[in-house]
Amino acid sequence: MMKILVTGGLGFIGSHTCVELLNANYEVVIIDNLSNSSIDVLEKLEEITSKRPKFYEIDACNKEKVSVVFKENKIDAVIHFAGYKAVGESVSEPLKYYRNNLDSTLTLLEVMKEYSCHNFVFSSSATVYGTPKELPIKEDFPLSTTNPYGTTKLMIERILQDVSKADKDLSIIVLRYFNPIGAHPSGLIGENPNGIPNNLMPYIVRVADKELPTLSVFGNDYNTHDGTGVRDYIHVVDLAKGHLKALEKVVNFKGIEYYNLGTGKGYSVLDLVNTFEKVNNVKVPYKIVDRRPGDIDACYADPTKAYEKLGFKAEYGIEDMCRDSYNYILKNKESQK
Ligand code: UFG
Repeated sequence: MMKILVTGGLGFIGSHTCVELLNANYEVVIIDNLSNSSIDVLEKLEEITSKRPKFYEIDACNKEKVSVVFKENKIDAVIHFAGYKAVGESVSEPLKYYRNNLDSTLTLLEVMKEYSCHNFVFSSSATVYGTPKELPIKEDFPLSTTNPYGTTKLMIERILQDVSKADKDLSIIVLRYFNPIGAHPSGLIGENPNGIPNNLMPYIVRVADKELPTLSVFGNDYNTHDGTGVRDYIHVVDLAKGHLKALEKVVNFKGIEYYNLGTGKGYSVLDLVNTFEKVNNVKVPYKIVDRRPGDIDACYADPTKAYEKLGFKAEYGIEDMCRDSYNYILKNKESQK
């Protein structure tokens, strides 16, 4: 069976992808520096799948250590999740973002070449579409960014394009994620950011749980059905399954391909709040505040290409996403008692 190196494999999307890989009998080698994840996730992966992936606590920027992983394991493909992802922090600490996100990718590509590993799947983001000219967003739309985090993703996409041109043996798939939320239905793994969350769903969950008093809704004068921002929320388990489809494809072509991973459906901030309240039978008090700088009215995918070329289609709905996000937090609290 193919052996897959998963960088950032204990993080939110990485851990859910490891579950799907292990369940599909891939051999999984995880590297993670635990900068935004917890070692406990390793036990949870074993609890869910009854398999224990190999784990190295190393930084993907550390070439010597990454080389050791390739030396000790015959890696067939790399899925590269590891990276910093907080938009606001990237504005105040751009060097940290460029250094880490670019360096880890360059290091992996160099070591892969040394060890003749030719298959690479990269976590990009819908943020590379900037302010889209129309909706839904197709893969061939013009690219631009509005913050350093997004620019690291776009720069890496460019690097991958050049590397793919130069090395005809390489197979690269770039996955552009829309907004991943939800959690594994077991409630054992999910998203639990440190400090005050930046993203909508982690914030809603904490308000529902009375850890934070009120959700601030950033603007209600956008050009959308209720004035609040519209996004394409995708269940993290669906997103994880998209990586398995990408893996099946990446070993069967040479070159570079780009795919949106979204549902194709847009929901507003208030749609999400209302659905969350209904499904979980809780209150999420909110107030309308000013727009958050850099936010756009609406963003949702045209998921046709991923469906036609990868056979990928998101199956979970917005209600499942709201239920599973909350279930994870409730389960987590129980286990901490
Ligand atoms: N929002 C609020 N209140 C909050 C947080 C968010 O009203 O406390 C609103 C935002 O204004 C936006 C929507 O909820 O309309 C979603 O915001 P998120 O911060 O959850 O997600 P974004 O769409 O801003 O950004 C996400 C990822 C980025 C990625 C981008 C891709 O966080 O990493 O999607 O489009 F780049």
